[in-house]
Amino acid sequence: MNRRRFLGAGVALLGTGALGAFAVPATARLLAEGRPGRLLRSEVPLPEAFQVPLPVPAVLAPVRSDATTDYYEITQKVARLEILPGLRTETWTYGGSYPGPTLSVRSGRRTVVTHRNELSVPTVVHLHGGHTPADSDGYPVDLVFPVGTSAEHAAAHGMAGMEGTEGMEGMAGAVDLGRTTIGTRAYTYPGHQRAATLWYHDHRMGFTGPAIWNGLTGFHLVRDDEEDALPLPRGDRELPLVLADRAFTADGSSAYPALDPELAAPGVTDDYMNGVLGDVILVNGAPWPRAAVDRARYRLRLLNASNARLYRLELDPQPPGGDALVQIGGDGGLLEEPIVHDAVEIAPAERFDLVVDFSRYPPGTAVRLMNRFGGGRTEEVMLFDVGSRAVSDDSTVPERLCTLERLDAEDAVATRVFGFRRSRGGDWTINNRPYAPGRALAGPALGSTEIWRFFSDVHHPVHLHLNSFQVLSRNGGDPGAYDAGWKDTVDLRPAEAVEVLVRFTDYPGSYMLHCHNLEHEDMAMMADFAVE
Ligand code: C2O
Ligand code: CU
Ligand code: CU
Repeated sequence: MNRRRFLGAGVALLGTGALGAFAVPATARLLAEGRPGRLLRSEVPLPEAFQVPLPVPAVLAPVRSDATTDYYEITQKVARLEILPGLRTETWTYGGSYPGPTLSVRSGRRTVVTHRNELSVPTVVHLHGGHTPADSDGYPVDLVFPVGTSAEHAAAHGMAGMEGTEGMEGMAGAVDLGRTTIGTRAYTYPGHQRAATLWYHDHRMGFTGPAIWNGLTGFHLVRDDEEDALPLPRGDRELPLVLADRAFTADGSSAYPALDPELAAPGVTDDYMNGVLGDVILVNGAPWPRAAVDRARYRLRLLNASNARLYRLELDPQPPGGDALVQIGGDGGLLEEPIVHDAVEIAPAERFDLVVDFSRYPPGTAVRLMNRFGGGRTEEVMLFDVGSRAVSDDSTVPERLCTLERLDAEDAVATRVFGFRRSRGGDWTINNRPYAPGRALAGPALGSTEIWRFFSDVHHPVHLHLNSFQVLSRNGGDPGAYDAGWKDTVDLRPAEAVEVLVRFTDYPGSYMLHCHNLEHEDMAMMADFAVE
């Protein structure tokens, strides 16, 4: 059956009280345990864990700066990288590495990133968590065609991969074709946002799953004076860590169960409709790496850039007394106060900013970062070797980190409901609609605050562009243990309803609301909202 043929309309939109009425797929039991997807097994023997040193992506220097702006350039190109020891994997990269280079920028300064596409496919760059005007946000049909593409080809293939897709008619009129470019494109990020761990990744309509799986991911760290004034671990003791699971074919190539191996049409084979899970866990692009750490505090900026995998992260052994993971921030920057956890659950696209004090361990301890949602090899993530030498550490975690503005539910001018479900036709939908560019499911007024209520059949990490939000409730009760602070992605568990408060600020235009399970996203679980 062709997954792109939507049946749509037949299923009535369920109201907010109808959570119990869903037809939950048989796989729901597995999904409930944090396994939204199917394991794709590698055809190569997997390397032993904890052999490869942890790489840290290089920080990219601007090509120039002026009074207001820093300018960067990134070339998207294929590189043959040694990901598994002794094998080469053809990887789609930003600048030749996986992950791509880290951008480290100042809040209040403008950042312009010019991307040049030397890959063989069109791309779209999105800054995840960015507060970005619509024309630089990476709208999924704002394609950058590879260098050398003819204008005729670009015009003819501007919508490649979407032909024959119902619900797309009239799209060409709705989408501003003027926003596609050939070869290069400059993305402008005004920088009116606080310090936070952001990331950039591909967002091409229908192909985000394979593009990120093949490597198009990088960190974009925003720093500001408020955060710099805190005595948090810094320098070598601040580690960005991007988690991603992958699978490899016999010759070391990246394996991905695309419906069309040539990637001319989107989607994965039926077995992987729930999401693709790999059997190799990469941290910063290395399989089960190990890192030497001092007996000191470290700031770990965790990003889950996996297509579909959820992790429940825990240190093993726990330090005496537990509470190993001190959360200082989330998707949208610092929390007001630190929150201590024994374990942290991180869904695709979420970020957790954690401080771990390795001086709580005896010298020489090998501390494993475990994934309690995994099994077998995917239960291990990486290893920290706690050093034995005496070191100085003047970092601390203040009891109060910052003052956060609380959005007020009383200010909400509207409540909107979005159901994240698989349609009877087999596609992933929002309010029973498969994605159609230019068709907005909501039109919030610029400057207004709204309550958005999301409900689910199975696990869906729901993400909003333009503004971060605050979680108001889960299933009518309090927010969960991992919902604190400003967030841009919130994990809906099976048959759950989550309410968030969001204020739409500064930039009008069409933005995305979607599931960040990339297989769900590519198979239509995405919607526009138009800020007016
Ligand atoms: Cu991280 Cu719309 O994406
Ligand atoms: Cu985003
Ligand atoms: Cu989903």
